Amino acid sequence: MGTDPESRIELDRFGINQHQTFYLMAAALGQRDPYTHAHARRVGAYSRRLAERAGIDGEALRAITLGGMLHDVGKLGLSDRIFSNKQAALSKEMLGEVQSHPLIGAQLLSRFNCPKAIIEVVLSHHERIDGSGYPFGLSGSEIPLGAKIVSIADCFDAITTDRPYQRRKSVAHAFIIMKEMAGTCQDAGLTDLMIEEIRTNGTESIMPMEPMSIPMLRAI
Ligand SMILES: [Fe+2]
Repeated sequence: MGTDPESRIELDRFGINQHQTFYLMAAALGQRDPYTHAHARRVGAYSRRLAERAGIDGEALRAITLGGMLHDVGKLGLSDRIFSNKQAALSKEMLGEVQSHPLIGAQLLSRFNCPKAIIEVVLSHHERIDGSGYPFGLSGSEIPLGAKIVSIADCFDAITTDRPYQRRKSVAHAFIIMKEMAGTCQDAGLTDLMIEEIRTNGTESIMPMEPMSIPMLRAI
């Protein structure tokens, strides 16, 4: 995947740095789907906490935190019918479209000179330890560590928050589900660390922001 120097030069000219660009991308997704924006910010926070507990610091920690926040940015490329769908079960065609979001996200970020470690997280956050994930069916050590961490953070937040088609479950219930998934979907050692982290420091309370209204946009 190449970078797009023209995009970078344009953004530099307006004083918008790469970090701000990534926040803008996450916020843009929030305009289409407020739940996803709050979810992304919580997943970024949980990913950072789990990575720190796993002894990761410096650049690698920053990449995992940003990767967690941007993990679903490829959903920007999905059609409106996906966002308006409130059913848990998707048609085969819609499922195929949803499952393209890691690839779309990785391609999008690569155009903005995004560090490889962040792109890897976005690309591989739906891979599973047993090789049954997507988009490539990677298994075990083939899956980047950052993607394994974000996958656990993503899963925990999805279980413990309300979605249009699913009521949230308690933290205790989430631990039971996560233990069942350990070793097949998720890394078992990291799952234990995540449970330890939540037991020690609790859950994140970031809530969805209201999408910008038309009058607000006119005032800009
Ligand atoms: Fe995702």
